[in-house]
Amino acid sequence: MTRSGLRGVSRRRLLGWTGAGAALAGAGAVAGFAAGESASDAPPDPSGGVVPFRGPYQAGIVTPAQDRLHFVALDLTTTDRRAVISLLQRWTTAAERMTAGAEAAPGGAVNRNPEAPPSDTGEALGLPAAALTITFGIGGSLLDKLGIPRPPELADLPPFQQDQLDPALSGGDLCLQACANDPQVAVHAVRNLVRTGFGTTSVRWSQLGFGRTSSTSTAQQTHRNLFGFKDGTNNLKAEEGALLDEHVWVPPPQGPSWMVGGTYLVARRIRMHVETWDRTSLAEQESLTGRTKGEGAPIGQAQEFDLPNLAPDSPIGPDAHIRLASAQNNGGAKILRRGYNFVDGSDGLGHLNAGLFFVAFMRDPHRQFVPMQSQLARFDKMMEYIDHTGSAVFAVPPGLGDGAYWGRTVLEG
Ligand code: HEM
Repeated sequence: MTRSGLRGVSRRRLLGWTGAGAALAGAGAVAGFAAGESASDAPPDPSGGVVPFRGPYQAGIVTPAQDRLHFVALDLTTTDRRAVISLLQRWTTAAERMTAGAEAAPGGAVNRNPEAPPSDTGEALGLPAAALTITFGIGGSLLDKLGIPRPPELADLPPFQQDQLDPALSGGDLCLQACANDPQVAVHAVRNLVRTGFGTTSVRWSQLGFGRTSSTSTAQQTHRNLFGFKDGTNNLKAEEGALLDEHVWVPPPQGPSWMVGGTYLVARRIRMHVETWDRTSLAEQESLTGRTKGEGAPIGQAQEFDLPNLAPDSPIGPDAHIRLASAQNNGGAKILRRGYNFVDGSDGLGHLNAGLFFVAFMRDPHRQFVPMQSQLARFDKMMEYIDHTGSAVFAVPPGLGDGAYWGRTVLEG
């Protein structure tokens, strides 16, 4: 199955299948594929292929971090629970189709009634699935609006020293995190889901990201953030099952039952004053971070994955970022970071509006993110170069079994 030199499942090919009225969603098959064919039959796709949509955990958490992000937070424009359920059902169907490389809905961009708006916006026609994942999250404000008790883990984050939060870049009743190896595929996914939500949700804020700043698998090389440092070296990795159970996935006794196997997502939009950073000496940059810039080794060590020496008399200073954020300094707490770089144009004052869109997954933001960020906000000298301008927390329920839709266990009990 080859299209435009790309091997893999292309949206155009799927358009043909669905346009021909092919049977959809058979046992084990993915909606949008013809009977007897599935994403796994496709030869490898250089852009990453198809990531399974259903499974015990939602995709886009321990999935090896893709190169691009489009994240959107939405607010409900209704409190009618049936309307919300209907939307989540339609979202799930569309998301499953798009992650398989299909168009958002049957008929698609060009094969329907020419008198009606197309059921897909069209900009991903001919593109492969590109490892698209769409991760769904629920904000505490949605539960408040629908009269559902908030898990304590979903309580609002406390204010931190030096926060510069813009309400227009914070919060949200729902979130969708689309990650893919092609930015157009990620944007197409969010755009079509936003479109499907018209009348039930409206966009509150949205963020594009590139150049993943975290590796989430030992198979991935560590990329660099916009300060030029490797980011994600000492991150939790997909292969570390016991650590993920301990720090990321909600275990049965924690509850509520609809969150068991789920996790919590903390998003922080962090503006980085790259111009000031670029006028800082290399020695100072390394000392602030606690790692060397080239290799990414902890100061005093030689290799990237050498263990940092955090003894009080070690060359890693008391206010180095990696010391303050370390598990040793935070009661053993670890988080799974999955952030992206961003450049949102310029600020009108001669500076790039650049930074890190920090995304992290954890069992309990209040026991993991909050102590870490409290330490960083008070003592991290890197704070002189950054501003936290947006903040949000979402409950990310577990993955979906066959036939289930996003949020069913939350809304239907
Ligand atoms: C623009 C802001 C930030 C920058 C530029 C940044 C950069 C870095 C870099 C270069 C490392 C070392 C490589 C690594 O192990 O990943 C690191 C480590 C880390 N960062 Fe950040 N970071 C930022 C914000 C944050 C925030 C907000 C948190 C959490 C509240 C955080 C938590 C961590 C943790 C847990 C580590 C690993 C520490 C360890 O070695 O145990 N970072 N960060």
